[in-house]
Amino acid sequence: MTQQEPQSSSAESVWWLSRRTELLEIAARQLNAYVYDLQTIRQSVQRLRGLRSIDRVLYAMKANFNPDVLRLLASLDVDFECVSPGEVEHLLRVVPDLEKTRILFTPNFAPREDYQWSKDFGIQVTLDNLYPLQAWPEYFSGQKIFLRVDPGAGYGHHKHVKTAGNHSKFGIPRFEIDELVSLVDKAGADVVGIHAHSGSGIPESGSWGNVATELARIAARFPNVAVLDLGGGLGVPDRLGGTPFDLQAMDQALGEVKAQFPAYQFWLEPGRYLVAEAGVLLTHVTQLKGKGDRRYIGVGTGMNALIRPALYDAFHEIVNLTRYDEPATETVNIVGLICETGDTFGVDRKMPPSRENDVIVIANTGAYGRVMSSQYNLRETPPEIVI
Ligand SMILES: Cc1ncc(COP(=O)(O)O)c(C=O)c1O
Repeated sequence: MTQQEPQSSSAESVWWLSRRTELLEIAARQLNAYVYDLQTIRQSVQRLRGLRSIDRVLYAMKANFNPDVLRLLASLDVDFECVSPGEVEHLLRVVPDLEKTRILFTPNFAPREDYQWSKDFGIQVTLDNLYPLQAWPEYFSGQKIFLRVDPGAGYGHHKHVKTAGNHSKFGIPRFEIDELVSLVDKAGADVVGIHAHSGSGIPESGSWGNVATELARIAARFPNVAVLDLGGGLGVPDRLGGTPFDLQAMDQALGEVKAQFPAYQFWLEPGRYLVAEAGVLLTHVTQLKGKGDRRYIGVGTGMNALIRPALYDAFHEIVNLTRYDEPATETVNIVGLICETGDTFGVDRKMPPSRENDVIVIANTGAYGRVMSSQYNLRETPPEIVI
């Protein structure tokens, strides 16, 4: 597939405005709901399929494990990256005929039972620490393994999502590579892939070429490596009209590295890039308040449904869908109904004067939204609706 569709981040092209009537109909039946647009996911897959340097795309299913989303991606020949036995089992329940060879299992600080389980189950496992090779070498004897290394620098939209560098718990650091080679040898394991994931929500494409070069350098220490898995982390613009991730620049840089190391397949394992823009959290205005110079709009859900603003200071566009055509004349904070001051979805946002029951869209919530939700305060986790 080579035809590229533009990435939908401008107000003219964004699906939740073109499908506004459907969303308003759903909102008439539901106080809150996550709504997913499958066509947006198809378009994201199509863009990644256009990358000439990438041989295989795996979906990091931690981002969104809705059954319809998983089935769609499986049907589009996207493979899967899972971080727990629970994810693998859920995936296989939802897509029972999925071949296990389409799954990569990348646990972190997991108990030894998880490694035994992956061996018995026949799933490709990734080690991201020396400890399993030091403490349980017998689990890996004769096994094909991937190694997750720390490429040295972490990237991402917040310090909590930078997954490389000394302050991150992930990956085997470069200074341990000699010891790693010897432990692999002693265990009798067969290293077939080298993996790195530098972080999440990385807006610039510049780091991927460097990561690939670093992985190729490390791969040279293991004779049977066939794959360099470059991880996920591809960002999507937070704001309407924001600059899309420059896939072509990444492809070009990776193509140059690949020309130097033609023996390796290059894999990507995005989560957010595939699903973030496909989801919105729909809710309603519950109450209004003016306090000093502040105006608050309260909505019918909170940080229990979407924790990203509280956890990462993440920015999500928030739109009054009922009054989308009215001028945004008020500056407001949009807050949830949870008993925490941090339960704030947006600060100093421009909105039209809103009223109780207006329908509110919190955009780009298809990734790390519903999957991170809870019933804190015993509030419902919003249902998921796929359109
Ligand atoms: C190993 C690994 N791969 C891929 C991803 C997906 O990241 P993103 O959703 O930013 O693409 C993650 C996210 O944490 C991860 O830990």
